[in-house]
Parts: sequence; structure tokens; C-alpha cells
Amino acid sequence: MYMNFEDQLKDFSSQVLFNANFGKLSPFKNIIISGMGGSGIAGSIFSELYDKAPVQVVSDYELPAYADRDTLFVGISYSGNTEETVSVTREAMKRKCQIRLVTSGGELSELGPETVLVPKGFQPRAALGYLIKPFLNSFITSDPKVYERISSMMSEMETDNSMEKATADKIYGKNSIPYVLGYPPFRWVAYRWKTQFNENSKLLAFSSYFPELDHNDAIPFKHTYGKDKFSFIVFGGSTGQIEKRVRFTSEITSTEFITVEPKGETILEKMFYLIHAGDYTSYHLGKLRKIDPEDVSVITELKEKLKS
Ligand code: F6R
Repeated sequence: MYMNFEDQLKDFSSQVLFNANFGKLSPFKNIIISGMGGSGIAGSIFSELYDKAPVQVVSDYELPAYADRDTLFVGISYSGNTEETVSVTREAMKRKCQIRLVTSGGELSELGPETVLVPKGFQPRAALGYLIKPFLNSFITSDPKVYERISSMMSEMETDNSMEKATADKIYGKNSIPYVLGYPPFRWVAYRWKTQFNENSKLLAFSSYFPELDHNDAIPFKHTYGKDKFSFIVFGGSTGQIEKRVRFTSEITSTEFITVEPKGETILEKMFYLIHAGDYTSYHLGKLRKIDPEDVSVITELKEKLKS
């Protein structure tokens, strides 16, 4: 059954209750996650939360040379047909990695290794809850209470998007390009905002993160031409040196930041809040631009052409 895009976004509060995991795993020395776009981001966001073993996310056709029997390999593609992910997964099978797959079907689901099947009918980027939960359940926490709290916080966002609408209004009001500033452990959440602006709002968008951006981006924040063509969005809630950096960077470079304050107590709560706030801000910005937030025909056309 076709679900309109707004309903797909609204499904996120149910997706965080998805209780699949990777099952029993043999010991491993490193984790490699292969995935592109709206699927790969699940691996990238997870990689920032997990530090018990090295995690590398591969958004490419090639499996790194070190991958072997001691590698836990996770291939993640919502459609199951993304050629980069299928090719890296085939190579991981040849190298005898310990393999898990996350997909809704397609070629990936026919390759053989143990697979977490997620529900069909979504845009990959609107299925992030399903795609990331096997990682969180297996490696961060599987406590249902944690996700019930997150789910109820997300349901509230799904009924009241006023903050996201206001943020979209500000960006649209000056016909600007979003530039999203994160900080650890939300660097990849900032990148997720960038990709959501790309796909849902059909806009060029940028992301960067503290403290690294104070060693490069901060210079053009002061000196670039065309600065009025950007809207700088920063995640609130930082502490210590990062909080000072946010303040001083804005002061020294005379740059106005739109602050999005994460709700929630824990890192996971704040992370999901920020992710969903980006979903709605980019969605509303797309609506203001009178384009279809769901449409990704450029990606589809490229994929089709590459098959020929
Ligand atoms: C579409 C989207 C894309 C896809 C990407 C990879 O909603 O977000 O970025 O995620 O083209 O495709 P899948 O996720 O099917 O492997």
C-alpha cells in the first residue's frame, strides 16, 4: 500500500520501536558497514555512538584490504538493489567476513547471508528508524523503555512541527542555502540534515562540525562573499569548550546562527530529536518551494542509466 511522504515521516515514532537485531555474533575485531545515501547514514550515525571496535563506513564500490574473517560486515540498502552496496557485499562474502544485511528486499536479500528484513513502502531516507535500530539494539541498548520514551517524544513532534516550520520559513524567507553545524556525537546528524535538504527540499546544502570547522569553515564565515545567501543552523545543547566555540565563532565572524535546541535527556533522545527535526524542516522547506519533497527521480534516472 502506498503511503504518502508525510505519513512516511510520521511513521518514525513507530520505527524506533522496531526490535530487530543482528542475532548471535561471533567475536570480531572491526566493523565495516557498506551503504549509500539514506541507508548508509544509519551506519555513519551509529559509528559515532560506538567505540568498542573500529567502525568504517564504506560508501563506495570497494571493500577495504584489511577486511577478513575477523571483520563484522553489515551491508545496508533499503531497496537492496544499490550497485555499490551489492558489489561490496559480494566481495565481503568472498573474503569470508561475518556478514549481516539490512534491507527490504531486492538483490541483497537473495545473496544468502543472515538478513534483517525491514518493511517495504518507504523512501529509504524515511526508513531510518528501521535501518538504524538493528545496530542500536545489538550494540547500544535493547531496553524497550529507552525506545518507548523516544517514540513518545517523536509522536509529539509529528503532531506539532511549529519549530521546524519556523526554521524552514527563515531559510526560505531569504532564499538561502542551509549550512548545518554539528558537533560530536551529532556530526553525522548534521550531515543527515544536509542530505535531507538535498533530497526533500531539492537544495544545495552544506554541513560541517565543531571543533573541526573552527580550523577552516570559520574563516569564510567571516570573509566569504555571498554570505547573506546562507542560513547557518547550529545544534544547541553543547557544553564546555564546544559551547564556547559556538559562541566565539558566531561573535568573531559576525555570523548569526539559527539554533535548534535538542529535546531529551540522553544522547539517544537528543539524537533522534535532532534527526526528526531535520526531517520536518527540510520537508516544510520543500513544501514552501512548491516542489515534491518525496521525488528523487534524478537518483532513479542515474541508477537506471548506470545499468545500461
Ligand atoms: C532515497 C534516498 C537515497 C537512497 C540511495 C541508496 O530516499 O534517500 O539516498 O538511500 O540512493 O539507495 P538504497 O537506500 O535503496 O540503498
